[in-house]
Amino acid sequence: MTLASVGLVFLGIFFLSACQPQTVVEQKRDEQILSAKSGADVVPQPAPLPMPPVVNKEPEKTPYQKYPVAYTIVPTLLPPPDAPLYFGLTPGSPKPSQMVFVYLVAAIPNFQAGEELPEFRSQDEFDQFMDSWATEFAKDAANLKKLDELAKNYRWTTDPAFLEDQEVIVSPKLLESEPNYIKLTQRTLARRFIFKASGTTAIKGKNGAEDVEIPLVISEYTEAQRALGAARYSSGQNDCVSCHNKMGPFGETPFLKHSPEYLSFYTDAELLNIIKNSSYPSGDLLLNGNHKFVFASQDEEQGIVAHLRNTPPFFDLIVELVGGLNLRAAFRGFW
Ligand code: HEC
Repeated sequence: MTLASVGLVFLGIFFLSACQPQTVVEQKRDEQILSAKSGADVVPQPAPLPMPPVVNKEPEKTPYQKYPVAYTIVPTLLPPPDAPLYFGLTPGSPKPSQMVFVYLVAAIPNFQAGEELPEFRSQDEFDQFMDSWATEFAKDAANLKKLDELAKNYRWTTDPAFLEDQEVIVSPKLLESEPNYIKLTQRTLARRFIFKASGTTAIKGKNGAEDVEIPLVISEYTEAQRALGAARYSSGQNDCVSCHNKMGPFGETPFLKHSPEYLSFYTDAELLNIIKNSSYPSGDLLLNGNHKFVFASQDEEQGIVAHLRNTPPFFDLIVELVGGLNLRAAFRGFW
């Protein structure tokens, strides 16, 4: 199973949550309520129909029997094909430029190798399917062992000239509110990469079976530029902070959208086009074309990019500001 299709599965979770027609479960429940009501009436029951002849029917297969296991690594930050992720480095700034890279070692149903592609009509249906699949998966201790071995043996490598690589402990609190199937079939791990030099490099992941390569472009700014940008960001008049320092319960506010990881999908020019011309790379307009900010100088303009690329990693924001927030909800938009 390719990573893209894994991504689709996860994206599906959120797509489904957007449209929720009445689920089979809800329909069944309504039918039960209705039949319970009519039972209370004193209507004579019709005589039972003669039993049809017994046919030797195959028992319905469980989700786990239908779809084989795929063990996989799912990076939360993956650039589009043939594109890098963009980050920044400001030597001498009070905080080092860094990113926290979250990835999952996951066991998921391999839908392509299954009998047919499943159809989910609601989030509930999907959750029930996944819970059933994951519960059966976890009953086999060998499955869990394999997952843990993969998590232990998976190696990320970087060029030490560009990146310093540190392990990050993911607090169990962040995972507390995850659905059961995630607890059973996924291991959430993270690494902190601190940028040491500007240029082009890559993060490579390898365990023999699964290879991932994430190209990075790290641009360099001066501390003077970054300071100008930071000042402009919260300058008081028509500043960015008036909208961008607000934080919603699930991290979908413009605030989190300013983390270096989130903005790593844009080049510097694309970022400036968003800020100055209200225009996304797709050509879509942001805020109906009312996101057009002007800058006093070229340095201040570069500085705003430096400032945005130099803010704390998304992961740290979640831990700091929301503590026990559901990690998956917070990473909505990443996977
Ligand atoms: C009037 C409120 C407002 C002000 C002021 C404002 N922004 Fe925004 N900005 C928004 C909104 C709304 C979005 C869209 C966020 C979304 O899609 O959820 C946005 C999006 C962005 C994005 C793109 C994030 C993304 O990928 O969607 C960037 C970058 C950005 N703003 C930077 C700035 C900067 C820098 C300033 C100050 C010069 C600024 N903004 C001032 C409201 C504002």
